[in-house]
Amino acid sequence: QIPQLELNDGHHLPVLGLGTYAVQGEDGVAALSQAIQDGYRLLDTAASYGNEREVGAAVAASGVPRDELLLTSKVRGQDQGYDAARRAAERTLRDLGVDRLDLYLIHWPLPRLDLYVETWRALVDLRDEGLVRSVGVSNFTAEHLDRLVAETGVVPAVNQIELHPYFTQAELRAVHAARAVVTESWSPLGRKSTVLTDPAVVEAAENHGVSPAQAVLRWHVQLGVVAIPKSANRDRWRANLDIFGFELSAEEMERLSSLEQVRLGGDPLTHEEF
Ligand code: A2P
Repeated sequence: QIPQLELNDGHHLPVLGLGTYAVQGEDGVAALSQAIQDGYRLLDTAASYGNEREVGAAVAASGVPRDELLLTSKVRGQDQGYDAARRAAERTLRDLGVDRLDLYLIHWPLPRLDLYVETWRALVDLRDEGLVRSVGVSNFTAEHLDRLVAETGVVPAVNQIELHPYFTQAELRAVHAARAVVTESWSPLGRKSTVLTDPAVVEAAENHGVSPAQAVLRWHVQLGVVAIPKSANRDRWRANLDIFGFELSAEEMERLSSLEQVRLGGDPLTHEEF
């Protein structure tokens, strides 16, 4: 059983979910269905991944009851704006084959468009109408969050951001804590960087007889964030779930939080995503 974090709307998220960015085709559906049977309950997709039908098919094929699963999707850039976001939500629900999303996020703020506040109003209305259980954002800075709260009074339940030992987001996490926003980590394992071979990570892993990925995921859990690693390999996705039988020491946490910092993905202020 995966521990849960409470959101500011009273709902809960497991601290570990599965990224589905790479899920495609029949093989992807079969793998995802197996991962659900293996224990993943929080699944993270997005309209821009182009795989919501596959994710929906895997959910159906898994045999796990819908109400035991938490489905996250995201509004892509071309669907920002009040009306467009509402239409996008309907399309996402149809493609996933469900009548409600558990978490719906604005994928990127796209400040150049200046539509994220209107998009946010649509998400809040979708929530109030029951089509979406919780609403949040992704890749928002503290300033973007401030503006949503100032103009709508509704604080996002989560902000999903790039977060791993090479990009620890200490300042933004403090802002989240002050506003009761749960932090979700994308690329929690640091993608194609050397996070998983970093000496600090390898040493922490060896100390506990676990893999580097397990040590890093445990670091996320002890930071109090939700991590959504992805893996196409059954041994690895199972191992990634098995991180609740050991605890990193304060020194290990500190060391994994003190590595050289580098952003691996898009910058929220300039990233264009459509
Ligand atoms: P694979 O699918 O072959 O397991 P992130 O989620 O940080 O973007 O990184 C995901 C990448 O990390 C994937 O390419 C995945 O490759 C790899 N990965 C996932 N779990 C593990 C693990 N336990 N050990 C090593 N690599 C992993």
